[in-house]
Amino acid sequence: MSPPSGGLSKLFGGFGGGGGSHCVGLSIGSSAIKLVELKREKKGYKLLHFGMIQLPEDVIVNREVVNPVALVDSLKQLMAQLKLKTKNVCASLSGTSLIIKRMQVQAAKIKELQDQVFWEAEQYLPFDVSDVVMDFQTLSRSKDNQTDILLVAVKRSVLDSYMTCIEDAGLKPTIMDADFFALQNVFEANYPLQASESAAIVDIGSAAMKITVVNQGIPVFTKDSTLGGRNLTAEIQKHLGLSFADAETLKAGGGGGSTPQEVVEIMHLMGENYGMEIKRALDFYNASSVAPPVSCVLLAGGGSKVPNLSQEIESKIGLPTQMINPFNAISYDPAVFTQEYVQSIGPIAAVPIGLALRAGAP
Ligand SMILES: Nc1ncnc2c1ncn2[C@@H]1O[C@H](COP(=O)(O)OP(=O)(O)OP(=O)(O)O)[C@@H](O)[C@H]1O
Ligand SMILES: [Mg+2]
Repeated sequence: MSPPSGGLSKLFGGFGGGGGSHCVGLSIGSSAIKLVELKREKKGYKLLHFGMIQLPEDVIVNREVVNPVALVDSLKQLMAQLKLKTKNVCASLSGTSLIIKRMQVQAAKIKELQDQVFWEAEQYLPFDVSDVVMDFQTLSRSKDNQTDILLVAVKRSVLDSYMTCIEDAGLKPTIMDADFFALQNVFEANYPLQASESAAIVDIGSAAMKITVVNQGIPVFTKDSTLGGRNLTAEIQKHLGLSFADAETLKAGGGGGSTPQEVVEIMHLMGENYGMEIKRALDFYNASSVAPPVSCVLLAGGGSKVPNLSQEIESKIGLPTQMINPFNAISYDPAVFTQEYVQSIGPIAAVPIGLALRAGAP
């Protein structure tokens, strides 16, 4: 298995994964926290622990921490269930406080590159540069010193609030990554891709849909939209006059009995909305990028678990679409995890597994 790429070597002041044999990925989503521990073995990575805990609705709003006490409390509860072998974790950020931008800079010497990048980055940032933490990765450099870089910037206050909560829960956030790069990591570890192909990984979470297009180890396009599983729950809630919690249960097939026809129809309409959102993003990518067009789409995130969603999206966008399987290349002990369990957690575990792979990268 090739080592995971994507992510930046010292994103947001992290210290690199360090390549320890136990690697933990922590995804703090809008609706739930997910924790994964992998063990690095000679033949590749193996799943040791997966756990998740729902978050009360007011904890993460617009993907910022608004109730740190409740977040720390939930994190502690989850950790108590899992008994992790290391406190070092790779966690991630997403949302409008995170900016990812590919840009070209001219720098005669590598030593001057950082100053040049940060100086030029100012014009792309919607925030004051003093309120931002920045990092970048060099993608290529031509003979005339034209350097293609990937800039990542995040609002310092948002980064600090996540890191403080993780530390207060007793963990050490050694790397802060982006959900987009985690998706790339989990994809590359599990799906070999020809250089002439690009793939889109679409994470349908609760509050957001995140799209990463990957080509030759580079996230050539990223898009974060506010359509997510929560919108589907809200539609079910509205049409059936239910509470949000009851609509969530019904949506996930837990209402007892078969899913009402009205809910099936709402799911179908939302599938079409998701498909249109993905199509719009991919049309934009195809029109504006020099990288090859997307040839397949992989779905991740809890919101992708709606029955038949991949077929709905496939027919809307006209590209082969399937659910991501992070366990193509990551092994597990069948005495500990059943195949059915592993299959059911696959899409939800994709981001935290991508983060754990980053934590394990040397
Ligand atoms: N079996 C299921 N069928 C349909 N939807 C599901 C199912 N299981 C979970 N979901 C939905 O998945 C969403 C949560 O997914 P996930 O945990 O990936 O989101 P998140 O990481 O908390 O949110 P975000 O990434 O948007 O911040 C919720 O909207 C939930 O209702
Ligand atoms: Mg998420």
